[in-house]
Amino acid sequence: MTKKIVVLISGNGSNLQAIMDGCSSNAIAGQVVAVVSNRPNVYGLQRAADADIANAVLDHKQFETRDDYDLALIELIDKYQPDVVILAGFMRILTANFVNHYQGKMLNIHPSLLPKYQGLNTHQRAIDNGDKEHGVSVHFVTEELDGGPVVLQAKVPIFPEDSADDLAQRIHVQEHRIYPMVTDWLCRERLKMQAQDGEFIAILDHHILAKQGYAID
Ligand code: GAR
Repeated sequence: MTKKIVVLISGNGSNLQAIMDGCSSNAIAGQVVAVVSNRPNVYGLQRAADADIANAVLDHKQFETRDDYDLALIELIDKYQPDVVILAGFMRILTANFVNHYQGKMLNIHPSLLPKYQGLNTHQRAIDNGDKEHGVSVHFVTEELDGGPVVLQAKVPIFPEDSADDLAQRIHVQEHRIYPMVTDWLCRERLKMQAQDGEFIAILDHHILAKQGYAID
C-alpha cells in the first residue's frame, strides 16, 4: 500500500529530489504528498512545483517562539495525513512536542557518522580533526538532537587535499543512495522504532539494528 510522505526542507532539496524520483520509479512504496520549507524561495520548492507536488513555505521568522512555529508546522503537515515525515536538509531544532507527535514516523539524514559530529559544519570538523573517513547517517528522529537510533550509514574517504565542499559533494552521492532506500523500508513497515530499556532502538525485518545501523556482514 502506498504511503503518504511529507518532506521538510530548508534549501536545495537534492535529497527531496532523490526521494521524489524513488517514488516515481516505484523504488519507494510511497508518494510525496507535500513539501514544506521554513525558508522562502529555495530551490527545493521549485523541484516540488516541477513535479506537481503541493508545496508551502512556513517561515520561522514569522513566529515568536519555537513552540508556536512547531504547532503551526504540525497543523500544516497534518492536513496531508502523512504516514511518513522526511527531514531532508531541514535546518531547524525541533521541539519535543513536534518530535513526539511523529514518533516512529520521522527520519532525518545527517552528514556525519553519528554519534560523531552532531550539529553543524560536520565536513569541516572531520577535516580539522584529521579524520581519514567521513560519512552520512539516516536515523529516526527523537527528542535528542541528531541522537535517534541510526538505521543506515554510508562512509566516504577523506583525502588530504579535500575541502569541505569536496566532502559535501562526495557525501551527497551517498545520501541520494541511502535515503530513498531507508524511506522505502519505513513505507513498507519493514523498519520500526521501539522503546527498549529506556532508549529507542531501530528494528529492520524484526532484527534489532546495531548502534551504527544496518551493516552488511
Ligand atoms: C544534506 O547534506 C543533509 O545531510 C544536510 O543538509 C544537506 C541538504 O542537502 N542535513 C543536515 O545538515 C541536518 N542537520 P539537500 O537540500 O540538497 O538535500
